[in-house]
Amino acid sequence: MSSTSAGIASIGLQLPPLFMPVTQLAELRGVDPNKYTKGLGCTDIALCPNGHDAATLAVGAAKRALSRWKGSVSDIGLVAVGTESAKDMSRPLSAWVAEELGLSGVIRSYEVKHACYGGTLALRQALEWKWSGAGAGKAALVIASDVALYALGDPGEPTQGAGAVAMIIDEPLVASVSPTSFPFSSPAFDFWRPVGDSFPSVDGQLSLDCYKRAVIECFSALIGDRNARSMLTEYHAHCFHVPFPKMVKKAVLHLGAELGWSLEETEAFYQRKVEGTLEWNQLTGNAYTASLWISVARALVGLKQGTPITAFSYGSGYGAELLELAAGPAAASAAWASDVEKDLSQRKPVDGVGYQRLRGHALAS
Ligand code: HMG
Repeated sequence: MSSTSAGIASIGLQLPPLFMPVTQLAELRGVDPNKYTKGLGCTDIALCPNGHDAATLAVGAAKRALSRWKGSVSDIGLVAVGTESAKDMSRPLSAWVAEELGLSGVIRSYEVKHACYGGTLALRQALEWKWSGAGAGKAALVIASDVALYALGDPGEPTQGAGAVAMIIDEPLVASVSPTSFPFSSPAFDFWRPVGDSFPSVDGQLSLDCYKRAVIECFSALIGDRNARSMLTEYHAHCFHVPFPKMVKKAVLHLGAELGWSLEETEAFYQRKVEGTLEWNQLTGNAYTASLWISVARALVGLKQGTPITAFSYGSGYGAELLELAAGPAAASAAWASDVEKDLSQRKPVDGVGYQRLRGHALAS
């Protein structure tokens, strides 16, 4: 295999063992449930029990990706974890993963931070490391893992979630990734978490505006001077970072308006090319760095080799990047779908009281 043909060789997902339907949260907060289900498009919030964190999820996803790969840990020369749920200001989350997997020696091991964009950056770095030849024949293990929690009662609370996606960068059996990508960044305080704060601060409206602007900038760069209508419909699916499902629809409607499409045309495009990619995200909630890759993993299921899709990554602060992928031969059987099916079938529901207990705030009455 030449280094430039490297892509995603294996993929593993890990979802936490608990969840709460957003309707339960609506009841707890005295809010019309339609606000969460219809207004934001949310269904469930994936939750971690005590003692379960982004490292636990990352290790679970990595073990699953490794179990389906023909190589072994001794073939890995780089491990990078994209996260905004760091356990330490200095020690990278990759060190917890490496400890659990027995990864040590001639390996570059680090954590990447750029809000929800960190996982995509880790993936790009690993691909570029392989493509450049710097990997010297070794494979990379990339993990996007997060637990998204807001302060109790925060407007972001119904969008909480958690999950991890691990990808091994080697032969493009799951997907190949185009070396050309379309980044855009512009510094903003749309969503941030000051050092020492347990939960993020958010300028909600600004965050929506930044996300939508980034979509326009990245897609405009992809389209260039080509016909947007014909080129965008050539992709089987368009995947997005999913802070909450309605955000993705808002962004697509914005893109359609920018391209001069009628509302009906954009709605039809959304239904055909985007809506189906959100199926798993609706059940996990926002898994920050993992969100986009949960959507990509869903979109690749059952695709014929060579089928193209796009992946739009967004991280507050803000930075975005649009990637082009093509399904590899392993997408048709999509073994990773069983990770999600297993985790969803085994996870336990939590009601309002259980949620308050989990968050360390028992109900007063
Ligand atoms: P809010 O202020 O509570 O919600 O928070 P709202 O009042 O704007 O209502 C939301 C929608 O529900 C509206 O629809 C309402 O009309 C509708 P829209 O007008 O927008 O189409 N609604 C109802 N619908 C049906 N029945 C009802 C009803 N009531 C209202 N009864 C906000 C919304 C998104 C701001 C909040 O959830 C939040 O702060 N979330 C976190 C920030 C976020 O997710 N931003 C997204 C872009 S930034 C990003 O993606 C990065 C991020 O992932 C972090 C990272 O990068 O690390 C967040």
